[in-house]
This record gives sequence, structure tokens and C-alpha cells, in this order.
Amino acid sequence: MNGQGLILAIETSCDETAAAIVQRGERTLSSVVASQIATHARYGGVVPELASREHLRAIVPVVRAALAQAGITFADLDAIAVTSGPGLAGALLVGITYAKALAFALDLPLIAVNHLEGHIHAVLLHERSLPDGWKSLDEQTALALVVSGGHTHLYLARPANGSWTYTLVGRTVDDAAGEAYDKVAKLLGLGYPGGPWIDALALHGNPQAVPFAFAQVKTKAHLGGQPARTKAAATTPIAQLNPRFLFSFSGIKTAVLRYVELHNLRPEAEARRGALFTGPDAPLKPTVEAALATCDPLTLDLIASFQHAVVGDLVRKTFAAAEALGITRLLITGGVAANRELRARFTAEANRRSLLVAFPTLALSTDNAAMIAAAAWPRFQAGEFAPAGLSADPSLALGR
Ligand code: KG4
Ligand code: ZN
Repeated sequence: MNGQGLILAIETSCDETAAAIVQRGERTLSSVVASQIATHARYGGVVPELASREHLRAIVPVVRAALAQAGITFADLDAIAVTSGPGLAGALLVGITYAKALAFALDLPLIAVNHLEGHIHAVLLHERSLPDGWKSLDEQTALALVVSGGHTHLYLARPANGSWTYTLVGRTVDDAAGEAYDKVAKLLGLGYPGGPWIDALALHGNPQAVPFAFAQVKTKAHLGGQPARTKAAATTPIAQLNPRFLFSFSGIKTAVLRYVELHNLRPEAEARRGALFTGPDAPLKPTVEAALATCDPLTLDLIASFQHAVVGDLVRKTFAAAEALGITRLLITGGVAANRELRARFTAEANRRSLLVAFPTLALSTDNAAMIAAAAWPRFQAGEFAPAGLSADPSLALGR
């Protein structure tokens, strides 16, 4: 070991090629993220084959940039960390193959990190950097909500001998919250990813205009004696979780679709926003003002009501779980945790209940490699290294 506790982390699980250098799991020397949004935007979602190709193109320059920005060379590193799952198989493989080759060539240990654990460590990394961050960060159990494009999962995160253990206590039974944001945005002719657009436009609508409702998820429908479709589902069977902490976002997506059809909003969406977001002359980065100019009041009310309902559901179930489990610290993370209304309402509810809530910075909310390096640090200290045969695990589950 070179002794400075420098970990180079690589993250390629979805559509961002990211590399970061973090010292001892707390000091971020660099965090470089190459987004593929421009590649996928015209398809309205991530195209896995294109993602792998873009990762191949970007990985070497992104790692070089991370080293340069940190002002170090490969010789200064103590370990290489890489996301091994969950995510897109081909995309993960680019990062894993590169990280393995690098670790072998530099004779450094390789640490495999679960992407979801990375998101949780994004909050811890940020808290450690704050002068008034949680002091007893590594001593108390917290409830972590990972809310992203691929996941809406609630975990109990317990510190244990410098490391962390996780127990799944709730999850979505169908779409992730970010997926619902992206699908609703697509339905309304907004750009990809949809979350930031809905976040910005919701400010201009009436959140009470459309009363979307969330019923408690019925687990019986998911039992049915059917084998789990994925390894993650097999490891964490929905039937064993408290139905009060289960989420479902496919219903609201359908409700939005019905509303759009009922009010004939689609022709307007295509005519006015098509040119802005997907047309041949679409600007690379449309402004919020330009998007706003294409939306009538009905559409803005729909957007605000959708967001209000989704955030309300996340708030209600997360706090219900915290109360039932006797937890006083909440970590809210993942791409959707960048949302303004979500942050405001979680903060207000935590204050009302005298609980602590923490979020990552906006940059650490969406996918990045600094969070992977932070999650790798306790593993590095514990000597938990990846086997030489490490491969991608697209449905890797976190904890029990
Ligand atoms: O964590 P992330 O970068 O990737 C995954 O692991 O999935 O999350 C991406 C998701 C997308 O669905 C995107 O629309 C959503 O996070 N997102 C947002 C916001 N920023 C990103 N959703 C709501 N409001 C935002 N400001
Ligand atoms: Zn993510």
C-alpha cells in the first residue's frame, strides 16, 4: 500500500462513464462524469448497446482526467474499485474489464462495489465533508431510501466494525420512481431524462389540480407461487416485506396516460415539444424557459400534481418505516433525490418529527464514481478484495 489511502473508482453501470479519486473514503480529490445523455436522448431512454459503446470510448479519457484533476499518477494509488452490479450487463463489463486490467497491471487490489451501496455512501461522503455533519455517522443505524431510475429501495443501514450491513425493508414492486418520472416526461414529449424537466416545470403548476391517489400495495398479487424473475427478487422476496413499505409507480404512469388522452394533450405535446426535444433541429440543451413556453396550464398542473403525488408517497412510506422501526436518521439518495420538492418535503417532515435527514450534493445524487470509492474504503480496510474472476452481476442485490 502506498499509504495515502487513495482509491480510484470506476462506475459504468448505466449511461454515465465515471471515475473518481477519493482519499480514505472521505476526501474527494476528483470526480469526473461523462454523460451519454446526448446519445440516448433521441431514443427517449438508454439503449444498452449504445451505452456499452460509449463507455468503451470514454473510459480511458475519463480515468486520465480523474488522475489529472486529482494531481496524482497511477503509482500513487492504493486500490481500484469498480461497480459490479446492478446495472446493464454490457455497460458494467466495460468498467469491470478495464478495472481488472488496471489492477493487474499496477499490482493493486480490486474492490467490487454494489451500485446501491454506492448511492448510500454518497450521503455519508457528503456528511463527512460538512463541518456540522452528523458526528456519530458511523455508529447509528439509519434508514436509507435509494430512489433512482432503476431503484426505489428502503434499507436499514447498520454500521458494523467500520463496515456497513444492509437489510431491505421496502421496495417498489414494479417501476422505480425515476422510471415513472422518465416515462411520464416521455409521454408529455419532454426530454430524457425526464426527472429534471418535471422538477423544473412542476414549479409552474398547481400540485392539487389532479388528485392522484396511491393505494397500499397488495402483496398477494405478487405471491401466486411464481418463481422470482430476477436474482435480486429471489434474494429479497417482496412477500416477506411489510406491505406498508412497498411502492408501486406503474399505476400513476397509467393514470397520467389516461389524463393525457382524456384532455387530448398528446397532439400538443408532439407539435410543440417534438421540435424542442427530439426534432432534427432540436437544441443540445433546451432551456427551461423554452420548455415552459410549450406547456399550457393544464399540462403544467398535470406535471405538478404528478410530482406532488410521487413525492408524497415516498415521504409517507419512508417516515412510516422510520417510525415503525424506531429509526431517527434518514439518508435519501439516488437521482430522484436531486428533486427540489422531494428535498423540501423530506426536510420539513423530518423537522416536524425531530428526525435527522441527509441528502448527497446534487452532483453526488445522480450516478458518479466518488460514491463507489467511498463505499470501497471500508472494504479496503477490511481486506475484502474481489476475486480474479469478478464478472458483472446485472441483478446484484444489496444486503439481505
Ligand atoms: O441515480 P441515477 O443517476 O441513475 C440510476 O441509478 O438510475 O438516477 C437517474 C434517475 C432518472 O430517472 C432521472 O430522471 C432521475 O434520476 N432524476 C430526477 C432528477 N434528477 C434526476 N428525478 C426527479 N427530479 C430530479 N431533479
Ligand atoms: Zn444510480
